[in-house]
Amino acid sequence: MHTGQLLGSGRTADVYELDGSWVLRRYRDRSCTTEELAVMSYVRAFGYPVPRIGPPADGARPTDLVLQRLSGPTMSEALLAGSLDAAEGGALLARLLRELHAIPPRVSADPGDCILHLDLHPANVMLTERGPVVIDWSTATEGPPGFDRAMSALTLARVALDPEFPAPEAEARTLLASLLAELADDGGADAADLTRAHAHQQENPFLTAPERDCLDAAVGLVLSCAP
Ligand SMILES: Nc1ncnc2c1ncn2[C@@H]1O[C@H](COP(=O)(O)OP(=O)(O)O)[C@@H](O)[C@H]1O
Ligand SMILES: [Mg+2]
Repeated sequence: MHTGQLLGSGRTADVYELDGSWVLRRYRDRSCTTEELAVMSYVRAFGYPVPRIGPPADGARPTDLVLQRLSGPTMSEALLAGSLDAAEGGALLARLLRELHAIPPRVSADPGDCILHLDLHPANVMLTERGPVVIDWSTATEGPPGFDRAMSALTLARVALDPEFPAPEAEARTLLASLLAELADDGGADAADLTRAHAHQQENPFLTAPERDCLDAAVGLVLSCAP
């Protein structure tokens, strides 16, 4: 099939232009996307900001997704460019987590469970004219919300500790501290949530060895930044 210009790439997928309205999100290595599509449709029905799902493209692979084409920078790009400040960024991430966790679970019968994104960080939020939109639902599942909060906090802490990251460390720490301050009333991320998030990220094959090696220090940083 014909795909247009490459619009973006992350650790698992490449996203190509199809036309002015739609993109093709193509996994490099994944066997099934049924669950991801089901979660995206479900949260969208509750008004949560996710890309619309489009009609299957002719000649597409079974795991290709056709998604609404979004315009605007990712939150990471806006933070690096200085068009979004770190304190606002933390508040925005916290709001997106809170609103997601207010949606009832789709499958679980446990009343303490909710929908979890498990990778909600600035590279997976696009800032469009109509507001922020959360992308990259490949890791979504259901469980206790503290786990999702801990996953986001741990990811921000890893970035703050990464000497290669192209932003001042103080900015990355402000983003983390703002997220944690905003999440405190929702239950924050306690030591048990962080232990679970640490174990989960340790198993993530898409993290580099240095990223895995800094997980202990990242947990320490989250605990030390908590209000
Ligand atoms: N719906 C979309 N419209 C336009 N660009 C997109 C869209 N979804 C993703 N992108 C671009 O592709 C990049 C990678 O997408 P993402 O879904 O996060 O893949 P990965 O799982 O590899 O991280 C994003 O950072 C963004 O630049
Ligand atoms: Mg991504």
